[in-house]
Amino acid sequence: MQALDSYYASPVKIAKNGEKHDIDTSALRRCEADALATLVYDLQPAESLEIGLASGASTIAIAAARAVRHLASPHTALDPFQETNVNGIGLSELERVGLRDQVNWRPEFSENYLNAALARGDKLDFIFVDGGHDIGQKVTDAFYISKLLRPGGVVAFHDGMLFSTSVAVRYLIKECGYSLISLPADAAWKRAARAVRHAPRLGAWYASNVIKHLCRSVVALKKNA
Ligand SMILES: C[S@@+](CC[C@H](N)C(=O)[O-])C[C@H]1O[C@@H](n2cnc3c(N)ncnc32)[C@H](O)[C@@H]1O
Repeated sequence: MQALDSYYASPVKIAKNGEKHDIDTSALRRCEADALATLVYDLQPAESLEIGLASGASTIAIAAARAVRHLASPHTALDPFQETNVNGIGLSELERVGLRDQVNWRPEFSENYLNAALARGDKLDFIFVDGGHDIGQKVTDAFYISKLLRPGGVVAFHDGMLFSTSVAVRYLIKECGYSLISLPADAAWKRAARAVRHAPRLGAWYASNVIKHLCRSVVALKKNA
């Protein structure tokens, strides 16, 4: 996708105030952005939401795929620290690649937004989670997401090798009946080696059932009908 080619052409982004940001510190890697864009392209979600805009890699992947599919309603991206932490770099990158009008940026904490969305009776088809990474935040996000997604909807997480993500994924699979989606992965021996290495930290169940389905550190789950 052209927007992703343009975004990844240079890892260093210049904010409006001239400050430099290296996207390699926290943004999705190109292979992960491609996997995310493919998920969205295949699903064609009417309503999509994302937690954690930051430097905009994931937002551009989602918005670009939505644009190719001509999906009407804008994608919503939450991040209360867009202006303060990264000097608006995510928004200016969206502008630069021509996707700013496809994204509704809300400077809100996910726990507040998701709670209000549930009270309004909102329903969503796709949610990408790359916000706060402590266990409380991740499980709180997963709790609300499980209620907001329509049957057949998809949730994807970045940082699938973090313990907090493993707990949220375990909750969605074991207690909410979600199924794993296999994403394009690297060589089988590399995935096996990763599973063995991380089993002591993430648990045998996660190591043997989940890790092999990840694209680098992106994990995706479908809400069963
Ligand atoms: C790792 S970065 C996201 C990277 C982004 N997905 C990308 O590809 O460039 C995490 C972002 O989540 C935001 N964040 C942290 N806690 C949040 C919360 N509770 N709600 C919404 N955003 C949050 C932070 O401000 C930060 O910008």
